[in-house]
Amino acid sequence: MKLNIAVLAGDGIGPEIIDQALKVTQAVCNKFGHELSYEHAITGACAIDEVGEPYPDATHELCMKSDAVLFGAIGDPKYDNDPKAKVRPEQGLLGMRKKLGLYANLRPVVTFPSLIHKSPLRTDLVDGADFMCIRELTGGIYFGEKGRSEDRNTAFDTCTYTREEIERILKLGFEYAMKRNKKLTIVDKANVLETSRLWREVGQEMVPDYPEVETEFMFVDNAAMQLIQWPKNFDVMVTENMFGDILTDEASVITGSLGMLPSASIGVHTSVFEPIHGSYPQAAGKDIANPLATVLSAAMMFEYAFDLKEEGALIREAVDASLEEKYVTEDISEGTSYKTSEVGDWLTHYINQK
Ligand code: IPM
Ligand code: MN
Repeated sequence: MKLNIAVLAGDGIGPEIIDQALKVTQAVCNKFGHELSYEHAITGACAIDEVGEPYPDATHELCMKSDAVLFGAIGDPKYDNDPKAKVRPEQGLLGMRKKLGLYANLRPVVTFPSLIHKSPLRTDLVDGADFMCIRELTGGIYFGEKGRSEDRNTAFDTCTYTREEIERILKLGFEYAMKRNKKLTIVDKANVLETSRLWREVGQEMVPDYPEVETEFMFVDNAAMQLIQWPKNFDVMVTENMFGDILTDEASVITGSLGMLPSASIGVHTSVFEPIHGSYPQAAGKDIANPLATVLSAAMMFEYAFDLKEEGALIREAVDASLEEKYVTEDISEGTSYKTSEVGDWLTHYINQK
């Protein structure tokens, strides 16, 4: 098969972790006889520095004509500490999601046996936790009208959802539940928010279409609590944009490391595969960042964008093997730790040897 990939490394540790994912992707392609071609494009703070905008048209055009996008991370502290900045790196990521119509962000949360002791939770609570969080990605408060009063002392952000937006994401939630353990948790704040009441209304209307799925509705504050009390009770969780952002960061630490969780954003145009962690600027250029979330995002790319299941499985096998061998970066190591690039080389070697 021919694989045409757009590579958006972004800022901070982005380029380093993307390099490892590319090495692994290339190795898998060699092994299975696929022809890989990829092109890099800029986004985030580095794109602002270079051309004044975080998601330039040229980058969007490349994404549009590619079969998949492999994305690193964006963000730079110089913007985080400047609330008055006119353009921000994050606008690049949000612009890309919107323009590509990526309304669903799939974030599988799984635990790795060798990392369980790193979890802040008791082993018996997390061991075996495995659920899929589906986050709505192109609506809600992230994209609603926002602004300031004339004297700039009052600010507002609005949260809007249409029935269509809710239906298409809930449909995905129900379908995933059918493919998994048939349990769906719809997270909202229907006791306070009108948008959430519409979510709940639409959800209730859809329940009879999926009689095999055990559906529950849960307030987001309760979900935040249940997630650390009984993470194993979840199978598929579906929620709106901002709740999903917050809950998946919470979920990621439960597994023992933020550096392990991949994601797939899917929708109308080209799908994007990216780690859920950020650009970790303190580590940039040091060759110490954990590349596994990005490598696992590449596995999701094979599976979701190309329907190449065996290829994805081989990447997962290599990652599991590196964890067992304790050939890992310092964030998850005990004793000896290895560089980002060394982990990438190890994984590549493993795949070549297979
Ligand atoms: C994420 C990130 C982004 C988000 C930021 C960088 C805009 O936190 O992908 O979870 O909030 O969606
Ligand atoms: Mn986030």
